Amino acid sequence: MLTAQQNERVTRVGPGTPCGNLMRRYWQPAALSEELAGKRPVVPVRLLGEDLVLFRDDKGRLGLLDRHCPHRGADLAYGRREHGGLRCVFHGWLFDVKGQCLQTPAEPEDSKLAARVKHKAYPAIERNGVVFAYLGDGEPPALPDLDCFVAPDAYTFAFKGLWDCNWLQALEVGIDPSHASFLHRYFDDESEEEKYGRQFRDNSADSDIPMTKVLREFDRPRIDVVPADFGFRMVTQRTISPVQTHVRVTNLVFPHIVNLPLSQDMVLTQFHVPVDDTTCYWYSMFTSFGQPVDKAAMRAQRVTVVEPPLYKSKVGRHNDYGFDPHEQEHETFTGMGHDINVHDQFAVESQGAIHDRTREHLGQADRAIATYRRMLLDAIDKAERGETLPMVLDAPGARGITGPATIDGVAPADNLDHYWEGAYRKRRDAAPWADSAAA
Ligand code: FES
Ligand SMILES: [Fe+2]
Repeated sequence: MLTAQQNERVTRVGPGTPCGNLMRRYWQPAALSEELAGKRPVVPVRLLGEDLVLFRDDKGRLGLLDRHCPHRGADLAYGRREHGGLRCVFHGWLFDVKGQCLQTPAEPEDSKLAARVKHKAYPAIERNGVVFAYLGDGEPPALPDLDCFVAPDAYTFAFKGLWDCNWLQALEVGIDPSHASFLHRYFDDESEEEKYGRQFRDNSADSDIPMTKVLREFDRPRIDVVPADFGFRMVTQRTISPVQTHVRVTNLVFPHIVNLPLSQDMVLTQFHVPVDDTTCYWYSMFTSFGQPVDKAAMRAQRVTVVEPPLYKSKVGRHNDYGFDPHEQEHETFTGMGHDINVHDQFAVESQGAIHDRTREHLGQADRAIATYRRMLLDAIDKAERGETLPMVLDAPGARGITGPATIDGVAPADNLDHYWEGAYRKRRDAAPWADSAAA
């Protein structure tokens, strides 16, 4: 539970807000690369309550500018991409990727106005299908060597989706290991062709036990929250028998990344990005430790549910998340289909636009959430005092943040501590790209 004042402090993200200032110290996913893949690579972006326009200039450089032209405020998202920049269609002012005004064509020929106009611009970089932006002051930090960044592009796939709620409740579902036993419970174990939304259909590693069965039958997990240099690790144990313990290791990478195993070969790294106070995007980077991914197939599967260009879900509050009482009785716990992403969307959107944390009753199963809130409030305080922040990394520091280790497996009960780290390491080292990527 938080006080009303703390809840405000951790949820508001606009310019000048305490949490907004903190978030501006980190790279934020701003768009998918595929959004810039068409003939006219210019897209409007709303991020941390700011309206921006992202474009690739005719030399391939990325620019991220304030959306409103500094002349008289017209919308640059409708601009013309030409002559080394983006040209406002109102009076033709031209801006480069750094925001420098290059031309003011309606002014007299000897005008020096253009040289004096510097439009607000932010750095943008691209990694494995995602464009990241830095909206803070000063030098951006280095991106850490997470598996989703060091794996070659062919082994990764990125996608995103819009949720109608504050970013923090979206993140909190990702650090809530007990909900999977309920929200994502299926009443049968048969495997399906359509794997994406049915991640838990795989067997847990080192066993022939389907994840679904483990989650359904062992719903009172022990959750240990272990501090780590990147944030914290959640070690979730379910005792299956006197000699077998199911262990699921997932991670919170500060400030807003959740990292977890989807199947024996696939890891999901999910960023919960504030669009503004009441809307957020999840950006998912999938990393394969096995075969190269079939990007077209993965994308085709996703767009059946999530529609570009806004990447809004076809199900939602407007159609009761597809709720079917018959299905709820016989097939799934929610009655909202088999796609776990839809379940999570229902759970977090139904909490309200900004979840009122003054009315909660947290239990022991919520300990990762409580830990995270303390960490977030502490980081907000530190940012205000100008102190060093977690995960604001220089280049050598970034090389030291790898992995992180994540696994869903069945361990011998007497060897739990050694099991999961070894199991991750074995799988990671066997990845076809392991030698070429930083260890
Ligand atoms: S408003 Fe953009 S050039 Fe005038
Ligand atoms: Fe979930």
